[in-house]
Amino acid sequence: MNATLLASQPVAAENPTARVRWLTAASSASWLEQANARPDLVLIDHAHCERKAAGVALQLMFRYPSDEGLGATLSPLAREELEHFERVLELLQRREIALRPLPAPAYGASLTAAVRRGEPERMLDSFLVAGLIEARSHERMALLAAHSPDQELRQLYDALLASEARHFGLYWLLCEERFGRAVTVARLQELAAVEQAALSGVLASPELVRMHSVGVCAPSIASTHSSNG
Ligand SMILES: [Fe+2]
Ligand SMILES: [Fe+2]
Repeated sequence: MNATLLASQPVAAENPTARVRWLTAASSASWLEQANARPDLVLIDHAHCERKAAGVALQLMFRYPSDEGLGATLSPLAREELEHFERVLELLQRREIALRPLPAPAYGASLTAAVRRGEPERMLDSFLVAGLIEARSHERMALLAAHSPDQELRQLYDALLASEARHFGLYWLLCEERFGRAVTVARLQELAAVEQAALSGVLASPELVRMHSVGVCAPSIASTHSSNG
């Protein structure tokens, strides 16, 4: 199969866990192939992603300290992300892979740049961006859980899937409670397009593969924003 054809194919269409609401484009077979070729890089990056996910939840709690509902939702989420971080770190240590810094893909910065600066738009956008990142993480972990050639990695990703799915559902609920469904859905559609654009393109080097490196197919199901999680 040539690279162009491979890149345009959705992976694991038979795997329903890989099809996640919120996302307008499924990850490509080429991303999965790149990730499976460099599991060490994906694992290091995954550890950083878990650490950053905890940091984002804490950052939002600090930014909106009087919002009790927010604290009640995000405090356990942050703890859970740190547990995930520790779990990945333990595997890295067992495999004697150093937790070195890796150049991050443009993905996170692209999404952050789309967050509006004034409130309350900033709050809505911040929740949606965090949710989109959770959704993409969940989708790609589901692919690795099903298709990694490494049994231990399949088990790791499979074990993390349920909580990652819950996380993007929680961010959805935070939005819906505060902004209503119509406003949330409309802005989600705009930011989901940004998310898809951030993952479009061709990987410049195998060394740059990450949990959120480029590799998506053409838009999939437009109706995916009609409900949470
Ligand atoms: Fe996590
Ligand atoms: Fe998460």
